[in-house]
Amino acid sequence: MKPSGVYGTPPAELAEVPAGAIQFSPLIPGSGPLEQQEEGTLSELVVLAPPGTVERRYTIALALRALAPGGSLTVLAPKDKGGSRIAKELKSFGCNSTETSRRHHRICTGGRPALPVGLEEALTEGNPRRDETLGLWTWPGVFSWNRHDPGSALLEQNLPPLGGRGADFGCGIGILARAILASPKVEHLAMLDIDRRAVEMAARNVDDPRVELRWADIRTGTELKGLDFVVMNPPFHDGGAEDQSLGQTFIRRAAEALRPGGVLWLVANRHLPYEAVLKSLFKRVTPKIEANGYKIYEAVK
Ligand SMILES: C[S@@+](CC[C@H](N)C(=O)[O-])C[C@H]1O[C@@H](n2cnc3c(N)ncnc32)[C@H](O)[C@@H]1O
Repeated sequence: MKPSGVYGTPPAELAEVPAGAIQFSPLIPGSGPLEQQEEGTLSELVVLAPPGTVERRYTIALALRALAPGGSLTVLAPKDKGGSRIAKELKSFGCNSTETSRRHHRICTGGRPALPVGLEEALTEGNPRRDETLGLWTWPGVFSWNRHDPGSALLEQNLPPLGGRGADFGCGIGILARAILASPKVEHLAMLDIDRRAVEMAARNVDDPRVELRWADIRTGTELKGLDFVVMNPPFHDGGAEDQSLGQTFIRRAAEALRPGGVLWLVANRHLPYEAVLKSLFKRVTPKIEANGYKIYEAVK
């Protein structure tokens, strides 16, 4: 019996995930890489599809490649986050599906055709690539994969030289790490991100012996202690929905990881409520720069 798989965490009332299904989401540390799953080796796959078109078509193409002919594929997503396009996208791969609508989601179920079409094109489009404008390796689906995030750019331009041992929380593809590592006094930098693809791209972008990369969920703790600095542009979305508590948790984890006198550099959207939590955990909190809707804080433990 071939194994079955799941991509992400589809709501239980919308799709039944087979018992023992292998998790393939790059956003769940420890899961398997779908791009490395051998062709035709899965009996069934349930995919909570990502919102970005290139990433979604790539994921569906990977799913069809991994499934055995006739294997069952369920793809679902919120209607306004790509769900309404799934049936058409499946059809473009030669896969007929039945579509149902429940709780603002579209749920499409079909069998893997004997000969899917157009997989190579979708796989090429969604693969990692070097973006010459960014000057970095990137992968459709990772944070700000095809543009320079203005918040990160602001912090990059205003980060003072740092020194000692530190961490980059939610490192993405390594934009801030490159600025941090430009300081020769930095001895060690732990780079953590929940997205495996970001960690893989960061490894290509930041080739430096002082770096240690970790695919990890910062919410569950980092085990880092006594650091001299932490740098972050914290996320404020979880599974597509705004979640301000995520950034607040990042700040708590930074406070736990820093030594007394250690410093946190943080950039965030001006409207995000981080100041109170910063003030409750740090000795001195200084708003340093405000520009283009972003704010940079220096917080000393
Ligand atoms: C706003 S982006 C910043 C990325 C990068 N530092 C930059 O400036 O381009 C936030 C990053 O946090 C990561 N992230 C989100 N939730 C996380 C979590 N619970 N644990 C670790 N990383 C997380 C995202 O994958 C994303 O790469």
